[in-house]
Amino acid sequence: MAIHGEFPAYRPRRLRRNEPIRRLVRETEVTASDVILPLFVIPGTGRRKAISSMPGVDQTSVDELLRDAEEALRLGVPGVLLFGIPESKDELGSEGYAENGVVQQAVRALKRELPELLVITDVCLCEYTSHGHCGVIEGECVVNDQTLSLLERMAVSHAAAGADVVAPSDMMDGRVGRLRAALDGNGFSETSILSYSVKYASAFYGPFREAAESTPQFGDRRGYQMDAANAREALREAALDISEGADMLMVKPALPYLDIIQLIRRETSYPVFAYQVSGEFAMIHAAAERGWIDLDRAMMEALVSIKRAGADAIITYYAREVARRGRQG
Ligand code: PBG
Repeated sequence: MAIHGEFPAYRPRRLRRNEPIRRLVRETEVTASDVILPLFVIPGTGRRKAISSMPGVDQTSVDELLRDAEEALRLGVPGVLLFGIPESKDELGSEGYAENGVVQQAVRALKRELPELLVITDVCLCEYTSHGHCGVIEGECVVNDQTLSLLERMAVSHAAAGADVVAPSDMMDGRVGRLRAALDGNGFSETSILSYSVKYASAFYGPFREAAESTPQFGDRRGYQMDAANAREALREAALDISEGADMLMVKPALPYLDIIQLIRRETSYPVFAYQVSGEFAMIHAAAERGWIDLDRAMMEALVSIKRAGADAIITYYAREVARRGRQG
């Protein structure tokens, strides 16, 4: 199929000569409306704690969180994703589903002060359990079915506080179906589920575990998160979540898994979200700090690649930077 003439008749460089022509033929763009900002909420007031491995990202109390969320909204970011770090942790992560837990408080405050902002909550126990695992522990094993009822309570408590979307990231089997039923049964049929369908056991979550104080106290998460080597398994996970009632699917991490984003995009008709995780963010910062790469360009190149692969939306710690860039034109 000769769609292009051969050299010298066709010279691809003609379309790269200057910025106006490059803009007109550009296939992919990442703007404020494509991104979601993750936020970490801690108890108290007036508190803002820097996370050393994630420059520019803080843990904040609800009042400070409102400022960050308001800034994001003002810049055109449509939504935020909330993670909570409770005052105290226990075996069953009970602060995770407490009516007055940190996330539940943050959701209520956001919905009261910034009703137009989409509020997504992470549903997982690891930030709330003393052992740092994503579920109930028996010996050294995370037991699936006992964990599900706690996740149900957590999702319902987030929805009751006003969350628009709940995002289960625990990787227990059957969770999407159980959350859908629990939400519907409690009068929250309008609350959507963004499932972390394809979540790999990844070294790139390192900085997040400092941010969320959720490092497992023993073992690792390979018993429930996916093996980096597997792509066909991603299709099974996505298919299961769709059959159980997921509204949107997520692939995580993003940049090392562009093939998976593309696969899920092609094989399903569901919205695909990608999570540019803490390690992806930290790597760019670390190299930029040493003067080895240009932060702004590396950030945009990574994000454009994630979107080009097929992501409809990207969860990124750079959400405000992306939105600010759009403002500057
Ligand atoms: C909770 C959760 C994790 C992330 C999002 N939700 C960490 C993990 O599974 O250990 C990682 C996000 C990031 O690295 O930015 N289970």
